Amino acid sequence: MAYIGNVVQNMKEKILELLKQSEDYVSGQQICELLSVSRTAVWKHINSLKEEGYVIEAVPNKGYKLVMDTMQLSKAGIASDIKTDYIGRNLFVFDSIDSTNNEAKKMAEEGACDGTLVVADQQTAGKGRRGRSWESPKNSGIFMTIVLRPDIAPDKAPTLTLVAAMAVRDAIYKTTNIMTQIKWPNDLVYEGKKLCGILTEMSAEIDCIHYVVSGIGINVNIHEFPEEIKDKATSIALICGRDVKRNEIVAQFCNSFEGYYEKFLKTGDMKLLIEEYNNGLVNIGKEVRVLDPAGEYSGVSVGINDNGELIVKKEDNTLTEVMSGEVSVRGVYGYV
Ligand code: BTN
Repeated sequence: MAYIGNVVQNMKEKILELLKQSEDYVSGQQICELLSVSRTAVWKHINSLKEEGYVIEAVPNKGYKLVMDTMQLSKAGIASDIKTDYIGRNLFVFDSIDSTNNEAKKMAEEGACDGTLVVADQQTAGKGRRGRSWESPKNSGIFMTIVLRPDIAPDKAPTLTLVAAMAVRDAIYKTTNIMTQIKWPNDLVYEGKKLCGILTEMSAEIDCIHYVVSGIGINVNIHEFPEEIKDKATSIALICGRDVKRNEIVAQFCNSFEGYYEKFLKTGDMKLLIEEYNNGLVNIGKEVRVLDPAGEYSGVSVGINDNGELIVKKEDNTLTEVMSGEVSVRGVYGYV
């Protein structure tokens, strides 16, 4: 049954892809011939796409034309723009779920493949780092988690957060022209305000990873933030002055992630990515405060090293490598 469901879903994605590629009308006959599908099936898929918010004109003797894309998150909308070999090819899109990280972990336990992507329009128990919650109301954000099965040592897994951050930054730039910066290691910021957070979790033995899930929350079509965070958070819609299509950003994330992930896997570290990463780093050359459990200290960040650790020049001019933990950057999230 699931298999039949997938075949039907793939056909809808293919019809959408055809409509997106064509500037003119595509006749029902053409669709039937190209995809080896019946007229009735085409009609049903077109109706289903309309229900997802696509505006499709149907003119007798001419065919179908996509007049307007949708703002709704949908599997067909994402899949029709994915151009990868494996990232996002095993794709699940939910209207509502507790947490995409939890769902991705369940799927990974059941054997979900490398690159499986879980996306939700709404999360009822979205999780942030350090036990915090992540507000995830419907129709407004991107909440997605990618399942990874890299053949690397478990202590290298946190670096995948940096790889995910690069892919989200690239995807936001390519789809909206917004140039965000990375706040090492988990956030993307724009003009000092948070736009995206990443929560990476792992299941491993001492010397081998079972799987990693990297969960990404992006503030997309949010127009107002609660008073207590409005100085620290922003959204793509607030920056652009208009709502944007979440499907495109998710698909572009997959397209970008695959390239970065492949480079990461070649060396098992950030060697091939370090230059681009440091170019996008908000921390660079800035005064940072490191909340080390052994004692807080200040210094100036000089970028990451191959292992993805943040190098900080302390006040006594010695260099130290920060592996994890909280780092505040002067001018970001109100740190003055
Ligand atoms: C943080 O900045 O604290 C990390 C936030 C991570 C939120 C995302 S939303 C998708 C995925 N599912 C979750 O429950 N959390 C992550």
